[in-house]
Parts: sequence; structure tokens; C-alpha cells
Amino acid sequence: MNMNTSALLLYCRAGFEADLGTEIVQKAADLGIYGYPSFSKQSGFVLFNCHQVDDAPRLVKSIPLTDLVFARQMLVCGAPIEFENLEDRIGTILAELDDAPLFGDVCVEHPDTTEGRALSKLCRKITVPLRQALRKSKQLTSKENLKKPSLHVFFSSGSNAIIGYSDPSNRSPHPLGILRLKFPSDAPSRSTLKLDEAIQLFIPQNEMSQRLAPSMQAVDLGSCPGGWTYQLVKRGLFVHAVDNGAMDAALMETGQVTYYAEDGFKFTPRKKQVTWLVCDMIEQPQRVAQLMANWLAKGWCKETIFNLKLPMKQRFESVQQAKQIVDKTLQQHQMRYQWQAKHLYHDREEVTVHIRILN
Ligand SMILES: C[S@@+](CC[C@H](N)C(=O)[O-])C[C@H]1O[C@@H](n2cnc3c(N)ncnc32)[C@H](O)[C@@H]1O
Repeated sequence: MNMNTSALLLYCRAGFEADLGTEIVQKAADLGIYGYPSFSKQSGFVLFNCHQVDDAPRLVKSIPLTDLVFARQMLVCGAPIEFENLEDRIGTILAELDDAPLFGDVCVEHPDTTEGRALSKLCRKITVPLRQALRKSKQLTSKENLKKPSLHVFFSSGSNAIIGYSDPSNRSPHPLGILRLKFPSDAPSRSTLKLDEAIQLFIPQNEMSQRLAPSMQAVDLGSCPGGWTYQLVKRGLFVHAVDNGAMDAALMETGQVTYYAEDGFKFTPRKKQVTWLVCDMIEQPQRVAQLMANWLAKGWCKETIFNLKLPMKQRFESVQQAKQIVDKTLQQHQMRYQWQAKHLYHDREEVTVHIRILN
């Protein structure tokens, strides 16, 4: 593999390739780096081909993966390869790694699609002998070392792969970039996994006890039947749940939930010390963004996690518009804030946004 080859490989949910393509073109252009995306619809990945040699490693150093809404993983990669001899894929992979750096780990992966998942057996079968071969050729550390780049072999079919590496300081630690979570059997809805994933992704573990901790107050707009409230209750928070629907009875019995049958757009907090606002109302993204911005600007909460339901097309633009609304409102109040938006594994036609006031 020629490590100067200037392409990025980005993983995404199938069907969101065009959105990710638009996003990476724009974010690279913001840094003065130009290129073009290539992808097949429903493939679950995008290649971003930079015009200049060495631009892909620059991008990986400059764009945090957390800033890319639609990307689950980001790798510097070489040109796609075809295995002529299916009996010796490992030999072909090794031949591509001539001038590669020392890797600390190896991941053999596939797209997160129906066809891609059919390749998981092949990926598992190859991993151990590939690891052994790489150790023998001194291209892999003798023990897993996550401070070094990891080698990724991404099979797009049984006879085609893309070989790349992830940067230790800017990658998802999860296979295929997916944080898999077990559905808690006592949770009232599957939506619960979205908030669980968002909390784990957006709040560093070492800051959790300061930022999302027992006894804090939270408001959940559009709370029923209670999947998001469940996550907050489980973490010891007191929740003001707002919806016209019915809340899960077991959640109400915890004594940590107060229910309000009110319109989430008109609700005002009854307590002064609300730390968290979460919102899963299915509404126009601009309307939700403005509501979140208003709560933050009025000092009604310090942090918020909410979903933006996306249109069928121009989804990246829609997220940008929502951000502009927040930007305008918070700038008027001279408030600095951190914004993170991600198309989570448990999201479908929506993205999840986190905003935190910094001053
Ligand atoms: C996707 S569901 C929320 C699921 C919930 N987060 C969970 O995990 O169980 C959306 C909810 O928003 C509520 N909703 C929609 N518009 C609302 C409004 N204006 N005010 C209050 N609730 C609203 C709906 O009644 C519905 O229960």
C-alpha cells in the first residue's frame, strides 16, 4: 500500500452515501483541500479522492471524526484492490503493504449492509492468519498497541478490498465504527438506545460525574412512552416528562419522574436548576433547533441532546441550517457553545445533536 495515496475511506449507514459525500467535500474545502467523492448507492461507504498527494493524512489530522455527521469511521487508504487469486488473499494484502508503517492492530471489516454482513465469515477467517503473517513480517506490534495506527482491510466484496489505516487519535474504537448496545428488557421503547448511544458518544466518561449525574434535573420533551426518560432515570436523574401520550407505568413508579400533559413547544421549566434538556419530538428540524436554542439562551438548561428529523434529500444542508439557527440565537446572547451532531447507529431518518454551553 502506498501510504501517500490520497484517499479517505469513510463508513456510513447504507443510503447516506450522498450526504456523507457532500459533507466531506465541504469540510475538506473549508481547509483548502479539494477532491471528489466516489460511492455506489446503498454501499455503506464513500471514498474521498484528494487531488493532492498527502492530503488524506492531513485531513485525518485536521477533521475530528466527531465533527463528521454521517461518518462512522475514517481511514487513509490506497486504491481499491482486486484479488486475482482468491486462495491467497493474504499474500495480495501483504504485497500492498510494502512501505506501510508499523501497525498496532488489524481490523478486517465489511460494509454494514446485507451483502456486507454476508462477508463477516470471510473477515473472521482471514483475521488470525493475517495477524500472524503481519507479525512475522514485523509490520504489526507483538501485542495490540492502540497508540499506533491500526490496519484496516475493508472487503467490499469477496474479491475486492480497500486497505487503509486509522489514526490512533482520531478513529472510532468500535468494529465498523458501530457502538452496539443491548436493548434493556425493561425499557419502554427501542428509542432508548439512541439516547444511550448519544450519551456514551458525546460525553467523555471522565466528565460524566460532573455533567450527567445522579440528582440532576432533566426535562424530556416528547417523552412517551419513556425510552429516553428511562436512560436518565437509570443514571439517577429526576425527569420532567412532557407529552400528551402515556408514560410507562414502571418508570412513573420510580418516583424520579414528574409527568406534564403539555405541548413541548410551550412548556416552561418548573425548576430553576435544570441541567439537561432532551427532546425527541418529531417536528421540522428548524423548529426543534430554535426551541433548543431558546432554552439554552434563556439559561433554562446547560446541555441538550435532541433529534433532528431529516428530509429525504439535502440532509447535510438541513443539519447546517439547524446549526445556523442555534448559532444566531446564541451569538445574540454572547454565549459560547459546543455543537456535536451525529448520525448514530441507532438513528434512521434523523441525526442526534448535542449542545453544551461553555460560558
Ligand atoms: C419518537 S416519540 C418519542 C419517543 C421517546 N423518546 C421514547 O424514547 O420513548 C415522539 C413523541 O413526541 C410527542 N410529541 C410530538 N409533538 C409534541 C408536542 N408538540 N408536545 C409534546 N409532545 C409531542 C409524541 O406524542 C410522541 O410521544
